[in-house]
Amino acid sequence: MDYLKCSAQELEQEYASLKKQYEDEKGKGLSLNMARGKPGKAQLDLSLGMLDVINSSSEFVGADGMDCRNYGILKGIDECRQLFAEILGVEKENVMVGGSSSLNMMFDTISCMMTKPIVEGCKPWYEVENRKFLCPVPGYDRHFGITGYYGFEMIPVPMTEDGPDMDMVEELVASDDSIKGIWCVPKYSNPQGITYSDETVRRFAALKPAAKDFRIMWDNAYCIHDVTDTPDELLNIMDACKEAGNEDMPILFCSTSKITFPGAGVAAMAASENNMKVFTERYNFEVISYDKLNMLRHVKYFGNYQGVLDHMKKHKEVLQPKFEIVLNALETELAPTATAQWTKPNGGYFVSVDVLPGTAKRVVELCKEAGVVLTGAGATYPLGKDPKDSNIRIAPSFPPNSELEQAMEIFCICAKLAACEKLINQ
Ligand SMILES: Cc1ncc(COP(=O)(O)O)c(C=O)c1O
Repeated sequence: MDYLKCSAQELEQEYASLKKQYEDEKGKGLSLNMARGKPGKAQLDLSLGMLDVINSSSEFVGADGMDCRNYGILKGIDECRQLFAEILGVEKENVMVGGSSSLNMMFDTISCMMTKPIVEGCKPWYEVENRKFLCPVPGYDRHFGITGYYGFEMIPVPMTEDGPDMDMVEELVASDDSIKGIWCVPKYSNPQGITYSDETVRRFAALKPAAKDFRIMWDNAYCIHDVTDTPDELLNIMDACKEAGNEDMPILFCSTSKITFPGAGVAAMAASENNMKVFTERYNFEVISYDKLNMLRHVKYFGNYQGVLDHMKKHKEVLQPKFEIVLNALETELAPTATAQWTKPNGGYFVSVDVLPGTAKRVVELCKEAGVVLTGAGATYPLGKDPKDSNIRIAPSFPPNSELEQAMEIFCICAKLAACEKLINQ
């Protein structure tokens, strides 16, 4: 039933029927969660073998001859840097392996540029009073949290199906030297699952920012996280930037949080020699060395990059049915109403749903009352402000499939109920 073509009376009837279904679901006292993008138990179990590759009789010496049980090697053990070099598509010399969180490395990176100029002669960003950061929307709330924390004005840049609106990005960065960077999740973006097109990557690489210290925060968190048999391909940003003479512009990040264990994996970053010099100087004060035993554990477990890719296929087997549950529910329940749009990603961790404008908060509230927790409406926008009150991020990975089916049923009832309410009251 196309709600937008319904008479007032038809909408009232539909509302009454939905309200009854809603009250029935509410009466079940459910407790379901589609909020955060956490791997489910079956995915965590996939990496259990990693816990057995090191024990008290293991050889703890890495390729560079360093005893991994002791302090040393700030940038991480050689074989782990090599593994991340291949994951990120860069040279090993440009990689630093850190602790267990890439978000932590991103926070440190911004923090570093706040206090030390990344380019000689530029001001540290804390001295730039009207500092600004570009934020593709919808985007990752924790990225916006970092630049919000450091007092940046955050300029939303709409996402297109090819990535951020590059006309807007080019125009803004060329005209305002207080714009210091942009957040990017270039492959299977959070939350839409969009992969930037080759042209978008090339346009990023060819940017001519007014600020000499403009940096692209290239968070490739989902670089090898396919959920279908038709994976997306992302052009290599470092190669493109080198070609365009902009090698210092991108800073790349990733981690094994969604490969092995979130919070207990390994994170890495990569950047040009010039950039890494400034960052490692800071890290020198911050830490003596990161957890090399965990790096060794990861390297021993996977063997090489192909080993990581093989492991990701197992994740795909678990995640693919979950994405299908979500997409089938949306297609069956919401498509006929013509009130919502959503993405059908080939990878990543999320499905991004745009419900009828003006109803996202209401949908999240209705779901909560019926026992389904969703990411807060607005979370995908800087400062939590979605101007259309429309975007909701669905995270299918964590709940068991039977719970996910129930949760999606309730989500669709709530989306329809909120749409009817809105249309009736218009
Ligand atoms: C885009 C993106 N970057 C980073 C992270 C967090 O990564 P880490 O666990 O390495 O800090 C997430 C987690 O959901 C994410 O979606």
